[in-house]
Amino acid sequence: MNTSTAGLIAPGRHDRKNPFLACVRVRRSLTLPGSGKDTRHLELDIAGSGLEYTVGDSLGVFARNPARLVSELLALLQLDPAHPVTLAGGRQVAFQDALTRSYTLNRANRKILHGVLERLPAGEARNAFDAVVKSEELAADYLFTRDYVDVLREFPSIRFESPEAFIKLLSPLQPRLYSIASSPARHPGSVHLCVAVVRYETHGRRKTGLCSGFLADEVSLNLPDAPVFVQESAKFFLPSQPDRDVIMVGPGTGIAPFRAFLEQRQQDGAAGRNWLFFGEQRRATDFLYEDDIHRFQKEGVLTRLDLAFSRDQAEKVYVQHRMLELAAELWKWIQDGAYFYVCGDARRMAKDVHAALLRVAQEQGGLSSEGARAYVEEGMMRTERRYLRDVY
Ligand SMILES: Cc1cc2nc3c(=O)[nH]c(=O)nc-3n(C[C@H](O)[C@H](O)[C@H](O)COP(=O)(O)OP(=O)(O)OC[C@H]3O[C@@H](n4cnc5c(N)ncnc54)[C@H](O)[C@@H]3O)c2cc1C
Ligand SMILES: NC(=O)c1ccc[n+]([C@@H]2O[C@H](COP(=O)([O-])OP(=O)(O)OC[C@H]3O[C@@H](n4cnc5c(N)ncnc54)[C@H](OP(=O)(O)O)[C@@H]3O)[C@@H](O)[C@H]2O)c1
Repeated sequence: MNTSTAGLIAPGRHDRKNPFLACVRVRRSLTLPGSGKDTRHLELDIAGSGLEYTVGDSLGVFARNPARLVSELLALLQLDPAHPVTLAGGRQVAFQDALTRSYTLNRANRKILHGVLERLPAGEARNAFDAVVKSEELAADYLFTRDYVDVLREFPSIRFESPEAFIKLLSPLQPRLYSIASSPARHPGSVHLCVAVVRYETHGRRKTGLCSGFLADEVSLNLPDAPVFVQESAKFFLPSQPDRDVIMVGPGTGIAPFRAFLEQRQQDGAAGRNWLFFGEQRRATDFLYEDDIHRFQKEGVLTRLDLAFSRDQAEKVYVQHRMLELAAELWKWIQDGAYFYVCGDARRMAKDVHAALLRVAQEQGGLSSEGARAYVEEGMMRTERRYLRDVY
């Protein structure tokens, strides 16, 4: 039997409600020893699934919690792992299974604070905890660094009466999205991802992000073990005219869709020029997809490459600094109708890149600040739809 068909959760169309169990065929590090990051390249087999994607789309992944974390929690709860519990959809599963696949465990929520408070006997400890629970700010700080194991360890006398009483307080597990890093024309039946693994330590325990940790440490290789679906993107796409130029700004994992774009442009024999701005912490350890990028250059598909390794010198250098250094040429490409794409961190990078683009329009285009906003935000973004972002 083909492993792909063995992986079907249910026959029919696969989507968020009915994900396909894909096999991870390849998982390798993109960062080298000595890096402060752990970023991985994954290749998932979706052959026979009926799943289709185009470059610019994302892959949704449902993770499961690590067995070690579930065991730690069960030991503290002292409840029967085999006890049947009913999930939201009405399905009955063992308590251990529900903890593994259906609820978020790597970050505690506000409901658990109330659950603990209700069960604490009157006294000093209860009063102190009551003050935390009642304050929006203290509760948020408390929860930022704690999972359920941390909370239960702080209150070892607390007992939940039944698995249902505990589960009632948990938050349902949500899938995570990853920008697809491959072109389906180049890699039929396969989806590539570029995943930065979230790892940190709090309260003396090593923690991982739910889904990046699952993909890096937990998912079995070559077995139908990764529940996935395709999330189409209506707002991040290549130009329909292949002779249009494209400018791609993708530091860190923001490189993912641009690897897919470059593969697709090469497959299509697109005549337009391609300019990539990439940045990471250090060139020696963090040049994600360096071989692919150099191959794209050698084969002529990547017309311009500008790099910003932020920690290779005393002063931080980011992609927007390169944009400003190359403002005249950048403006020329934009004036000639180039598409402008940004992918990666939404909180800081995308905002700073946006500000740099406005500055380029002002300084190179001789526009006022309102004129630059109108050109970039009304013109490029809204009317012409050639300033497109995939940020998170
Ligand atoms: C459209 C889209 C595309 C995306 N594409 C990609 C992609 O291509 N590659 C990629 O890697 N990601 C991508 N992401 C992000 C991805 O979906 C996940 O959000 C990311 O992998 C983290 O999820 P996680 O489940 O591993 O971590 P989670 O379990 O969600 O945990 C992350 C949380 O951990 C917390 N945290 C981190 N460090 C600490 C600390 N020191 N102390 C306390 N808390 C901490 C943070 O607050 C963060 O909220 C994309 C997101 C979107 C929406
Ligand atoms: N906490 C984690 O471990 C973790 C893991 C995965 C993803 N994430 C989140 O996922 C997103 C992407 O992470 P990533 O690993 O792909 O890379 P990233 O954190 O976005 O870093 C990529 C490069 O961008 C630089 N950078 C930092 N601030 C910038 C700014 N304002 N403008 C331009 N460049 C900037 C970084 O430099 P410096 O680092 O030298 O400042 C680094 O060189 C971010 O939101 C990040 O917070 C976090």
